[in-house]
Amino acid sequence: MTPRACVIGWPVEHSRSPVIHRYWLAQYGIDGAYEKEAVKPEDLPGFLQQLWTHGYVGANVTLPHKEAALAAARSADEAAMTIGAANTLWLDPDGALHACNTDAYGFMTNLRAEAPQWNAAAGTVMVLGAGGAARAILYGLLAAGVPRILLANRTKARAESLVEIFGPRIEIIGWEARNAALAGCGLLVNTTSLGMRGQAPLDMDLSAMPRDGVVADIVYVPLETALLAAARARGLVCVDGLGMLLHQAVPGFERWFGVRPEVTPELKAHVMADVMATLGKE
Ligand code: ATR
Repeated sequence: MTPRACVIGWPVEHSRSPVIHRYWLAQYGIDGAYEKEAVKPEDLPGFLQQLWTHGYVGANVTLPHKEAALAAARSADEAAMTIGAANTLWLDPDGALHACNTDAYGFMTNLRAEAPQWNAAAGTVMVLGAGGAARAILYGLLAAGVPRILLANRTKARAESLVEIFGPRIEIIGWEARNAALAGCGLLVNTTSLGMRGQAPLDMDLSAMPRDGVVADIVYVPLETALLAAARARGLVCVDGLGMLLHQAVPGFERWFGVRPEVTPELKAHVMADVMATLGKE
């Protein structure tokens, strides 16, 4: 039987996952399929219970379903449980649903690929933002052995709730203190939506950052955000947001279709072309 997987969201139209997985299916000559499923929040538990009946061996889940998908699963990996959200699901031969979160893996794998000189144990990292993406990235950074993370968020209470989850290696700094606190940071990560097309710009002065610093942005529309352009102008190493998206898809594809796919410059160009084509239609 042809294995089929899908991405479940509400709305789901904007998801890039089909473009990534269909590229790999074609690339590896796999007789499989990857669909989009628009499922309302109230219908999610029922849909997941019937995943097999719908013809799927597994699924990605996107907003707003990531927490509910975790709750619906029989088991979950440590990343999903700590982050409190799942993005990848699969059915075992007995029909039980399993969940994992590959966002931290995607971020860290991309970071290591794009900034191989960055050393997790070497020093302080600054993370901007305290939403779902920040949770995944904090999990990944701490698991990699980062000793200290400065966390800046507009709403301090949200940052405080992350300290409760992740512990004392996270140190909250005021949103206004972020520029000055960059002195001594080897890595800056923007996990906020600031700088995304249609959103407010991220106002950041990188002049205090060490010359060998790395700047990562999870925003990928545009691919070169103002933050990354400023970093590049200062000679800092830049890590864009598209790589995280591509790498987070790898474990799911391998699980459903039995081949561990590669993230290549060709895939990146293919997905970027799709992003540009949809933007052109808006
Ligand atoms: P996600 O789950 O994708 O991370 P989210 O939970 O909506 O999305 O989080 C978005 C992040 O961008 C938050 O850290 C948010 O800050 P608040 O917690 O204060 O809302 C941040 N963000 C969004 N708009 C912002 C703005 N205009 N200024 C500063 N931070 C902003």
